Amino acid sequence: MAINYQERIPNNVDLGNDRRLQRALEHWQPRFLDWWQELGPEGFQSKEVYLRTATSVDAKGWASFGKVKMPDYRWGIFLNPEEKDRTIGFGDDYGKPVWQQVPGEYRSTLRRLIVTQGDTEPASVEQQRLLGQTCPSLFDLRNLFQVNVEEGRHLWAMVYLLHAYFGRDGREEAEDLLLRHSGKEDNPRILETFNEPVSEWLSFFMFTYFTDRDGKYQLKCLAESSFDPLARTCQFMLTEEAHHMYVGETGITRIIRRTLEKMTELKTDDPIILRKAGVIDLPLLQRYVNYWFSSCMDLFGAEISSNAAITFANGIKGRPDERQYEDHIARDTSLEIEMPDEKGGICIEEVAVRSAINCQVRDAYIKDCMVGVTRWNRLIKKAGFDYAIELPSSRFRRNIGSWAGVTTTPKGDFISEAEFHRRQDEFLPSDDDRNYVLSLMRQVTEPGKIAGWIAAPDRGINNMPVDYEYVVLK
Ligand SMILES: [Fe+2]
Ligand SMILES: [Fe+2]
Repeated sequence: MAINYQERIPNNVDLGNDRRLQRALEHWQPRFLDWWQELGPEGFQSKEVYLRTATSVDAKGWASFGKVKMPDYRWGIFLNPEEKDRTIGFGDDYGKPVWQQVPGEYRSTLRRLIVTQGDTEPASVEQQRLLGQTCPSLFDLRNLFQVNVEEGRHLWAMVYLLHAYFGRDGREEAEDLLLRHSGKEDNPRILETFNEPVSEWLSFFMFTYFTDRDGKYQLKCLAESSFDPLARTCQFMLTEEAHHMYVGETGITRIIRRTLEKMTELKTDDPIILRKAGVIDLPLLQRYVNYWFSSCMDLFGAEISSNAAITFANGIKGRPDERQYEDHIARDTSLEIEMPDEKGGICIEEVAVRSAINCQVRDAYIKDCMVGVTRWNRLIKKAGFDYAIELPSSRFRRNIGSWAGVTTTPKGDFISEAEFHRRQDEFLPSDDDRNYVLSLMRQVTEPGKIAGWIAAPDRGINNMPVDYEYVVLK
């Protein structure tokens, strides 16, 4: 169904035919806008930004580009079209028809999943709200805002489900999504990673590369759900999410490219000299990778999880691209996973597949993370330098799951807590690193100009030139 932009809330769910739901969402809409004004990107609400907006959900050209002020962005409700006779793709009810309504017995589980997903969307906007003040270029500024408005739309996607399928509880949850705030002392966001401010652009690119990719994998699991409206919502969100990871991957690529230029020019890999030259040395970048990757590991939950087993068995939450697995029921099968043994070593344990769902999802994520890393390393090698970015071990710096509290090096070798503390600055961004990165952050807003610590992008947005005025600041 085409998206109806004539209505106050653009949608492709025939909202006009459900007056009650429409009224409820129209009641929530001004609160959302208030939240956006208060906690959305600071200082740019009245500026025109070259943004893309969804116009239809089919594969060919769902986007239109144009200059809009962010508060006028047409946030709305877009679901992928209903797949005829879709059946449940995994778990105990494999092959039965999917659900168009929420089964009573799964109501609270589904509500919790939707709220947890929904909570991360406005959280990331809040975390990134000050970044505009230090943008490295107008191109990057525009990309930041594109990510922000789409995270806002993802909130709409979850709020629609809460309003449409969860009655009064759902409406209350939708209100609460605007009341919790990232880092707010007495009412923080649900997941810890989403309470830390993202205050400089290296972290923003790391966030969009690693944390948005975690989002992608959560959405991929929910896109398999037997609750069909949730599955279709997430399927469409995934098409938007791809851009966020593109921003992360190209951002980090451009940083590396700029550093390599300086390394070649100055014939050195000495961080001290490179910092004097105003670029981000690769070991520093590696420490940021260690930090962001390890905090994302925790977002997948414990390696062995009875919750994950239950939501899989019940057909609520599947695995990413469930079709790629051979056995969709996984009732009596097991797999081997690495666990800490009692003696400070590693042992292999046989675990029921259903209990190890989080592990499987996480492994798919790690594989996906590797794609960019491999590209970055190719770039470094091509420039003639002997250095490789590495993803840390999934045992490194964990707070959740079997490895919580076990101290290891980024390679995953066991070390004592004392040694970890002593060597912390070797593994993770030090105060020096953070201060250095912050010192690079200066706003560059002349069209076509780029800050010195990052290379220019290869191409502009939607075939526009790189020096196009992506945000009009006058
Ligand atoms: Fe999102
Ligand atoms: Fe995202």
